[in-house]
Amino acid sequence: MNKITSLFNIKYPIIQGGMIWNSGYKLASAVSNAGGLGLIGAGSMYPEVLREHIQKCKKATDKPFGVNVPMLYPNIEEIINIIIDEGVKIVFTSAGNPKTWTSFLKEKGITVIHVVSSSKFALKAQEAGVDAVVAEGFEAGGHNGREETTTLTLIPMVKEQISIPLIAAGGIATGRGMLAVMVLGADGVQVGSRFAASTESSSHDNFKKTIIEVEEGGTQLTLKELAPVRLIKNKFYNDVQELYAKCPTPEDLKTLLGRARAKRGMFEGDLIDGELEIGQIAGLIHDIKPAANIIEDMMTEFEIAKQEVAHL
Ligand SMILES: Cc1cc2nc3c(=O)[nH]c(=O)nc-3n(C[C@H](O)[C@H](O)[C@H](O)COP(=O)(O)O)c2cc1C
Repeated sequence: MNKITSLFNIKYPIIQGGMIWNSGYKLASAVSNAGGLGLIGAGSMYPEVLREHIQKCKKATDKPFGVNVPMLYPNIEEIINIIIDEGVKIVFTSAGNPKTWTSFLKEKGITVIHVVSSSKFALKAQEAGVDAVVAEGFEAGGHNGREETTTLTLIPMVKEQISIPLIAAGGIATGRGMLAVMVLGADGVQVGSRFAASTESSSHDNFKKTIIEVEEGGTQLTLKELAPVRLIKNKFYNDVQELYAKCPTPEDLKTLLGRARAKRGMFEGDLIDGELEIGQIAGLIHDIKPAANIIEDMMTEFEIAKQEVAHL
């Protein structure tokens, strides 16, 4: 047992990050059944769709699972009410101020974790009363911090500032990566990209196949003026870069982005004009496999790597 496995009552300190258009109940329950902590990603769900996923997840697993709530999306109050109503016990908040919902959720007996990209915000989250912090480096897929702090530097800096359990995210897809961040001070890991390329991910097969084709250097953090996001360099990404060359206003960028780009790319499989969110570690992801195998392989490699470093 370590701080993370005992906080969530799970077998392995591996959390599957909430991911819009990827992490419905099928992925979350598969991860939880395999001994990790699965999270339903509420960010791409209408409130009633979220309710349905929570109910299906309860049927698909008797293990703990949680919901990820990115606070930048609308309908937050409705989403929070559904989470409470359905008796969800674990909530990961992201993309917003941890003060907004933490004490309210804690009063309802919910374990609250907040995702940050700097030690300043890790400290703010601790002050807001969260139970643990996810510190996410610049390598990560999805929305990200503007400062471009890498996981390798972020984890020890956050560790220096906070006393509550620390979960590392960004660039972790293997047991070796997991061991590395735990040596730096993390108590557990949150993994996104690796699980996006899983059998149970709800994303389109076109997107999953593209993830395994991404090579080193195939992604870039962009759209910092709106909400910084790491994207695969497809035509849509190139359109954004072309617009940047013309010194656009945030309004111009918003107009180009339009509505539902992420859904179009990741859920509907439009590889040309869709927004394809993935982390740098995609360069190390070479297959689509069941979530249980991802976890098993990570833990096997973790144990082997531990033996190896003992000889250093
Ligand atoms: C496709 C995709 C969608 C994501 N959506 C969300 C989200 O809705 N909420 C959130 O807090 N993080 C989101 N993330 C971040 C993940 O939860 C996780 O922290 C991150 O992927 C970890 O880095 P990695 O991709 O290098 O494993 C997303 C990541 C990806 C790849």
